[in-house]
Amino acid sequence: MTDAAPVSFYDEIGGHDTFVRLAAAFYRGVADDEVLRPMYPEDDLEPAARRLEMFLAQYWGGPTQYSQERGHPRLRMRHAAFHVNPDARDRWLAHMRVAVDELHLSPLHEATLWDYLERAAHAMVNTFEPTGIGPATAGRDASGISLVSRPPDHR
Ligand code: HEM
Repeated sequence: MTDAAPVSFYDEIGGHDTFVRLAAAFYRGVADDEVLRPMYPEDDLEPAARRLEMFLAQYWGGPTQYSQERGHPRLRMRHAAFHVNPDARDRWLAHMRVAVDELHLSPLHEATLWDYLERAAHAMVNTFEPTGIGPATAGRDASGISLVSRPPDHR
């Protein structure tokens, strides 16, 4: 068999079932996370788990259902409404770590998947403000200097 279709990473690690298990395990962690849980607008995390599962499956060469239902991923843009600071990122990654471990992949598959998830999570950070600091202090950097209005300059 020389002309067999190349096997996707999606298929190599077990296809649909693996991605469903990954997303389900991840959201079990999110459900108990005091910082991440309130970010999710819906009471039920099931639809969010399904979106993540469809996205990851598509990314790794599986069915393109995500784009059919949600359009272009534009993940940075879709996360802009959420306060994704380094703490949120690290929590996201910690739950993902547990979920990936539960899959018991081969070391190479595990490393490939994890490398991607880590890079993607770092790319999703959109603020360095600590959680809980809202619009009242928006526009100030860590030193407390206003970034939206300049002090009067005495020329
Ligand atoms: C870094 C920390 C992250 C936080 C705090 C975070 C949080 C969120 C929240 C609150 C939502 C909205 C719930 C929903 O409507 O599905 C969401 C959606 C989503 N996130 Fe994340 N996320 C993070 C990183 C990532 C990463 C690294 C990926 C991909 C590898 C990802 C993939 C998605 C997808 C596919 C959706 C659904 C987008 C849609 O179709 O509307 N997220 N995320």
